[in-house]
Amino acid sequence: MMSSSSHPPGLPTDLTGRVIFVSGGGSAGPGWSIGRASCVTYARLGAKVCVVDRDPASAEETTRLILEEGGIAKTFVGDVSEQDQVKRLFNEARQQLGPIDVLHHNVGIGKVGGPMETSAEDFDHIHKVNVASLLLAAHEVLPEMLTRGKGNIIAISSVAGMRYLGYPHLAYSVTKAANTQFIRMIAQQYADKGIRANTVVPGLIDTPRIANTVAKMFSENGLDEARVARDRQVPMGRSGTAWEVAHACAFLVSDAASYITGTELVVDGGITGKYV
Ligand SMILES: NC(=O)c1ccc[n+]([C@@H]2O[C@H](COP(=O)([O-])OP(=O)(O)OC[C@H]3O[C@@H](n4cnc5c(N)ncnc54)[C@H](O)[C@@H]3O)[C@@H](O)[C@H]2O)c1
Repeated sequence: MMSSSSHPPGLPTDLTGRVIFVSGGGSAGPGWSIGRASCVTYARLGAKVCVVDRDPASAEETTRLILEEGGIAKTFVGDVSEQDQVKRLFNEARQQLGPIDVLHHNVGIGKVGGPMETSAEDFDHIHKVNVASLLLAAHEVLPEMLTRGKGNIIAISSVAGMRYLGYPHLAYSVTKAANTQFIRMIAQQYADKGIRANTVVPGLIDTPRIANTVAKMFSENGLDEARVARDRQVPMGRSGTAWEVAHACAFLVSDAASYITGTELVVDGGITGKYV
């Protein structure tokens, strides 16, 4: 019989005192984006959350929601794809909340279109926001994580980085695939230095940005019909919620995932596993 001292701990999802930098912690519209739901989830588990976004009002709304619940958060406003702003954002975050324990790379933009419809300028811009920004953030956090011998990075990719989703979304898909490989590289290089890195791969998630971007790819007759058409593609018969992605993020950044690095956690209701 096992002695009580040999019992493993309960699921260690507590994040008390961890400083988590969430790039894109606002939302494209009113409601729950993946970044906002992640920020609130981290705060509920005890983390100190740096809510970073180029949109001051939406970042502030995330911070307000956290403070209202008694959590710890601060807003930092800037463009995470511009090097000078990235340096400022990380310096401010460190000064106000402490060394960064977790980088959650959440920003992601796209433009519908295939190779013929995607200009070189659009491609460069989407790459800059989705991928080069991760390099800039890595330059900021990795030296500190190496010195401290601990750290955790997650990036939000997309099933669009693994599969063709039925309409052309070239720059988005290519850059989301790049996020995954970028994270795998970090994970391998620093696995023996106390740093873990993983990718969360959301499927079709019902967030406010969908109304602005991909809804018209599913129906010309408005958002409600687009939602139904989008939901129908998923084996579970529905889109995911921002919370379902946030909970996967919280698991990966917590000690519950202490032996997990260099992998992808797909949160997609089964869609990437299906044939038609
Ligand atoms: N919603 C989905 O169905 C879905 C599916 C798969 C992957 N994703 C990915 O999940 C992430 C979040 O998606 P969401 O739907 O919650 O998006 P969202 O657009 O609501 O949130 C992204 C936030 O990032 C901010 N942002 C964008 N560019 C920025 C920049 N350069 N600097 C600072 N802030 C910037 C925006 O202001 C916004 O608040 C994205 O990476 C997206 O590609 C979403």
